[in-house]
This record gives sequence, C-alpha cells and structure tokens, in this order.
Amino acid sequence: MESLIPRHVAIIMDGNGRWARKRQLPRIAGHRAGVENVRDIVRYSAESGIEALTLFAFSSENWRRPPTEVRLLFELFLLVLEQEVERLDEAGVRLRVIGDRTPFSRKLRAAIAQAEERTRDNGNLNLVIAANYGGRWDITEAARDLAACAARGEIRPEEITAEMLGERLALADLPEPDLFIRSGGEQRISNYLLWQLAYSELYFTECLWPDFGIDEFERALRSYGGRQRRFGMTGEQVAGELDGVLASEAD
Ligand code: IPE
Ligand code: IPE
Ligand code: MG
Repeated sequence: MESLIPRHVAIIMDGNGRWARKRQLPRIAGHRAGVENVRDIVRYSAESGIEALTLFAFSSENWRRPPTEVRLLFELFLLVLEQEVERLDEAGVRLRVIGDRTPFSRKLRAAIAQAEERTRDNGNLNLVIAANYGGRWDITEAARDLAACAARGEIRPEEITAEMLGERLALADLPEPDLFIRSGGEQRISNYLLWQLAYSELYFTECLWPDFGIDEFERALRSYGGRQRRFGMTGEQVAGELDGVLASEAD
C-alpha cells in the first residue's frame, strides 16, 4: 500500500466549459469558477504535505479554441498571477510555469518571471502551472538539446541514455508524479506530461473541475493510498520490501 500522501500530484483540470453550459453561462464563467477551485486545492496541498502540484492550465492544442476564449483565458491567467502571488508567497509556495512562453505577451512573460523570482526560495509546496505546455514539445526540446550537444562533440549519440533525456525535461528536479488526476470524465492524457507519467497512478473522475473540491481530492488520495505500485516487480517482491522497511523501522 502506498503512503496516503503522494509526493507529486499532476492534474488535468477539465470540465470548466461543461460546468458553465449546464448553468447557461459563458464558458469563461466556468474557467473563473475553476480558478476559485484551484485556490482551495493549492491550500489543501500545501497543508497536507504534498511536495509538488502540477496543474494543466492551457495545452499546446488549446490554441485551436475560438480566439475569444483563448484571449479571455490569457487575461484570466495574467489577472490571477498578479492577484495571487502575494498570498502564495506568504504561504511558502514556490510557483513556476512550464511550457513554451514565446507566444505570450511581454506583460504576461514579465509577470511570470516576477512571480517565479519572488517565490523561488519558498520550500512549502512546488506549484507548477503548465501553460502552452505539451508533452511532445517537452520531449522534443530535450531531444534538440541532446542533438546540439552531440553536434558540438560533447557527447556521442550512442552514449545517450534515458536519464540524460529525462534530466532535460520540465520538472526534472521534482519527483515524477505519483498521482495523476483528470476531472471532467474524459479518460485520456491529452499530451500532458507524457514522459513523466510513465509510472504514475491514474485517477479519472466524472466530476467537473469547478466541482472538484476537497472531498473529491481526498477521495482521489484514498484511491491512491489503496494501490500497490509495482514498477515492474511482483506483488510479493513489493510486499517483501515493505516488510523489510517496517522491520528496520521497528529496530
Ligand atoms: C479545461 O476545461 C480548461 C482548459 C482547457 C483551459 P475545458 O474548457 O476543456 O472544459 P470542457 O471540457 O469544455 O467542459
Ligand atoms: C486538456 O483539456 C488541457 C487542459 C485542461 C488545460 P482539453 O479539454 O483541452 O482536452 P481534450 O481536447 O478534450 O483532450
Ligand atoms: Mg475540456
């Protein structure tokens, strides 16, 4: 059985649009309600000893949405960043953003850089926002860097290992996500952390993101706590290892 508290939780916050449609509200009202919920989940995570929380805010494919929705989403992102950074800093949260920032406005890029700088020494919770992020983009960037190293003669292609690629990815300094949660009923990864989710426990719920409160989060944590992670080993091996740990703790 796993410890109830995962070190790293990665979430796809899906279902804002449907939440709004059910209430005959514009989609952006769903996104605003989603942000309210983020506040609660971040606070709960910081208080419960989770080390890292990675939230998917905007995928590299979300540019395909109507331009108005895209624009409003980025306005909301900027607003939330400006409004929340002080509170996050006070709570000891370290904020960072992963994804390709090059298409962002100068103002947004500056706000991100400031928020990251201000909170960089905080040690309570690593809050990671994935914005214009795609798992394939992440792996491609790492591959490009390795290719550049090879072209400069610093490494030989046959020396390249999975570890070398992994350490060039976003989040390389954090433990890999133990628990992946997707709200909103879809059961897919949608180009999220493709490499990093290799051994994550997956949890899907029908609950729409603005309704995914602390109770739902605790339900996901309980589900996680009841699982046996085997990483390729047999169940008996894992149970044996655990016995060993418990025996040495009793010494
Ligand atoms: C997730 O909610 C938020 C973003 C992708 C920005 P959606 O906007 O995808 O909500 P649904 O899937 O349409 O309900
Ligand atoms: C994934 O949700 C991206 C975010 C939550 C930011 P989508 O709603 O965009 O995913 P698909 O398109 O349904 O797979
Ligand atoms: Mg969606």
